[in-house]
Amino acid sequence: MSKEINVPLLDLKAQYETIRDEVEPVIREVVESQWFIMGPNVADFEAAVADYCGTKYAVGCASGSDALLLALMANDIGPGDEVICPSYTFFATAGSIWRLGAKPVFCDIDPKTYNCTPETVAEAASRCTNLKAIMPVHLFGQAVDLDGMLPIAESHGVPLIEDGAQAIGSRDTTGVRVGTRGQVGCFSFFPSKNLGGFGDGGMVTTNDADLADRMKRLRNHGMEPKYYHDEVGLNSRLDALQAAVLNIKLKHLDNWSEGRRSNAKRYNTLFDEAGAGLSGSDLSQSQLGLLRPWTPESPAYHIYNQYVIRVPAAVRDDLRAHLVDRKIGHDVYYPVPLHCQVCFKELAEATGSLPETEQAAKETIALPVYPELSSEQQHHVVETIVEFVQANVAVGAS
Ligand SMILES: Cc1ncc(COP(=O)(O)O)c(C=O)c1O
Repeated sequence: MSKEINVPLLDLKAQYETIRDEVEPVIREVVESQWFIMGPNVADFEAAVADYCGTKYAVGCASGSDALLLALMANDIGPGDEVICPSYTFFATAGSIWRLGAKPVFCDIDPKTYNCTPETVAEAASRCTNLKAIMPVHLFGQAVDLDGMLPIAESHGVPLIEDGAQAIGSRDTTGVRVGTRGQVGCFSFFPSKNLGGFGDGGMVTTNDADLADRMKRLRNHGMEPKYYHDEVGLNSRLDALQAAVLNIKLKHLDNWSEGRRSNAKRYNTLFDEAGAGLSGSDLSQSQLGLLRPWTPESPAYHIYNQYVIRVPAAVRDDLRAHLVDRKIGHDVYYPVPLHCQVCFKELAEATGSLPETEQAAKETIALPVYPELSSEQQHHVVETIVEFVQANVAVGAS
């Protein structure tokens, strides 16, 4: 039996130790200045994110969820409007659409990438009568096929809003960073993201000056100038303390993403040696009874916010229990597809079945892939999983 090594799903304390000396002084500066709302730290961080992503404008806001909301509000999305988005994503993607009285129209995913595709978006568009926007998600840190998706948005005359909450720094097949080619890019700085704050935070990116101005107003009650409101907005400003911390962290982001990529590569090698198949292939034909993630080729650049494997649905939850027992952190993103959520039950009939989404929800498990993870910890994770799968999955069966 392999020895017991504790492996958390994420170790933010380990990351903090590496930046403590840089971060503590800037926190102290903000506190000393008592300038907590907007101000130079927010402006500097917005400029740094625009520069990093390669967009003309970036507008900070209170969370990734609000970034989506602002992008939709700036496009006048409202009651009766339809917005296409995947069902296999975090709730906020569809929640932001619903909160404006609009209707999420759910599309299926490609089991190879777990992302929605031009084909699944086109299928969802064929179910629409009042399509107003398309909102793909760069899930787990891997860019969707924007080359294929942008022409669909164009042909329907609607904006493509990128939910890049999990994917800052990721590049698509053209080598361009996400959040740049769509009309608006939306980012989250939730602590578990590759660029995570010490609390909530978010950002929208765009090359459109009018949209950037409108989102700036909308994040501050629609106010411009002070105490004049032509429309109703939100209180969704990015906290100055978060901006100061994130500005330091942004300088480390590419290194951290490289660390995640090399950990993903090590997992790939170890799983391949054990006979794993690739996501998108037939799990029942896999020599091991496990699929590891398919990896896009350069210039595409996956930042591995999550490293997700698949095992047969019949053993997935037993494997989870086994991992808990062995103190190996993991999670399931996401166990209930959005089109199956109680709050969206009135959409169920129109959506019908999304087979790849439903299957992925039953078979996937995300493993620790954070940059500070050691090789010993990774070997332990793989050995534990491979031992379990070999003992519990009949080869050639799902
Ligand atoms: C795909 C996706 N969209 C939106 C969000 C919302 O971001 P936040 O938690 O910052 O509101 C998240 C956060 O987990 C996400 O993963």
